[in-house]
Amino acid sequence: MRDVTVERTPDAVAQHACRLIAEWSESAIVERGRFTIALCGGQTPQILYRHLREAPVRWSLTHVFWSDERCVPPHSPDSNYGAAQRALLDPVQIPATNVHRIRGEISPIDAADEAETDIRRALSPAGRLDLCVLGLGRDGHTASLFPRHQALVELRRWMLPVHVSAVPPWRVTATPLLLNASRRVLFLVVGEQKRAALHGLRRQEDLPAGRVKLADGAITWIVDSAAAGTA
Ligand code: 6PG
Repeated sequence: MRDVTVERTPDAVAQHACRLIAEWSESAIVERGRFTIALCGGQTPQILYRHLREAPVRWSLTHVFWSDERCVPPHSPDSNYGAAQRALLDPVQIPATNVHRIRGEISPIDAADEAETDIRRALSPAGRLDLCVLGLGRDGHTASLFPRHQALVELRRWMLPVHVSAVPPWRVTATPLLLNASRRVLFLVVGEQKRAALHGLRRQEDLPAGRVKLADGAITWIVDSAAAGTA
């Protein structure tokens, strides 16, 4: 873990993340005409979205994907897409064609196949996301890549259906193959309960989040003081 910034509060983490996302989005749009970002799930993004919807991002030139989705309908409180739609995508009025949701309401296998086809077509020809925003679970999981899961060693697919030890158990997750092709990854970690996982990553324990290693890109960590243990 190299580029790590500790912010005092979750809100400061979100505000710092927004400054970076706005800067990175503008660079991507200037260089390539659009910005492609994958969001993640959980509670931390909710703090981010409150600020991101006010940030100077050109949403008409931004395409939004997800690094994982729970296999639930979009109106479910567990839906990563649903949470982003309510807190960010509706307020910024992003064009519907720029939103590449994973359809949690269909079977996990079909949802993963559909997501795979869509993201490969949408990212063609470069085959890279500009930015993947990721969280960190207490057990070191990220996206829906959980410890010792077969998806961690997938060598072909970008999106897989997985059954995991979390609720809800069925999900679709990006594989390390897709994550590690990203130009940038931004990990946002808040809360004391993530301290052990961060410590394990620093000690280079083999945790799923540690499998995120960019072939040609930069990983940025923004953590709050509670997670860093400096509170
Ligand atoms: C998911 C997420 C997951 C999340 C971590 C951290 O769909 O559950 O993608 O990887 O980022 O579990 O979640 P919190 O932000 O709630 O701590």
